[in-house]
Amino acid sequence: MLKHLKGDIQAVLDRDPAARNALEVILCYPSFKAVRRHRRAHWLWKHNMKLIARIISQRTRKKTGIEIHPGATIGEGFFIDHGMGVVIGETAEIGNNVTIYQDVTLGGTGKDVGKRHPTIGDNVVIGAGAKVLGPFTVGAGAKIGASAVVLKEVPPFSTVVGNPGRIVRQNNQKVVIDLDQVHLPDPVKARILSLTARVDELEKCLGCSGCDKCDSCAMQGECGRSAKEELKNEDL
Ligand SMILES: CC(C)(COP(=O)(O)OP(=O)(O)OC[C@H]1O[C@@H](n2cnc3c(N)ncnc32)[C@H](O)[C@@H]1OP(=O)(O)O)[C@@H](O)C(=O)NCCC(=O)NCCS
Repeated sequence: MLKHLKGDIQAVLDRDPAARNALEVILCYPSFKAVRRHRRAHWLWKHNMKLIARIISQRTRKKTGIEIHPGATIGEGFFIDHGMGVVIGETAEIGNNVTIYQDVTLGGTGKDVGKRHPTIGDNVVIGAGAKVLGPFTVGAGAKIGASAVVLKEVPPFSTVVGNPGRIVRQNNQKVVIDLDQVHLPDPVKARILSLTARVDELEKCLGCSGCDKCDSCAMQGECGRSAKEELKNEDL
């Protein structure tokens, strides 16, 4: 727990321009309090003192407005800015140097058992009010926009916004979303054209007695028609 102390203070100093010194972080930051208490609760959880762990977690929620289940795994340099309304589920795993803002949920959808909360990669930023729901991975360096609702895996170094969350940037490149509502593909027309072409081909094969064109034909020359002759006639 002491091993993480310096990192937990430094995370706040590095990422909140309003933080002036370590003492201010220790006394005034709910994130610092919640993460420190979580590390204690997590230790107890892992050493099979689950009830005490849950009590610590619930008291932390009362004091800071941040609810972290003691089973959640949190890496170095985790920072929750403002904090109020944050919920982190039991099987959530958070990498190093992750930043999240107030009102973020790292939760489940209610459909999964066992691992049911997300895995957050290193250096991820999750904006205020975002909901990340399900047992998938948010890749390292990804950004989740404020108020986004993310239900699917997020590739590393991409930005996801909106509800449902969609990728708008990947590896710093803008993702172009095709909004052309007029020139949409027509699957029925495409199928009819393909069937017409097939019927034309089969008609040519009728009566064929075996040739290059017949190699892939299921009748294998049994129809008695020569496609080569037919093609010759067509040329004439
Ligand atoms: C998503 C975010 C991280 C920006 O990431 P980015 O990779 O720099 O992306 P951009 O700013 O280039 O935005 C890309 C597109 O997404 C849109 N966008 C950005 N944030 C969005 C959001 N939260 N919701 C919906 N759309 C959003 C932009 O308008 C832009 O759209 P455009 O391409 O049509 O112009 C940032 O907008 C954000 O939401 N940060 C969270 C900050 C926060 O929670 N602050 C709380 C302080 S108390």
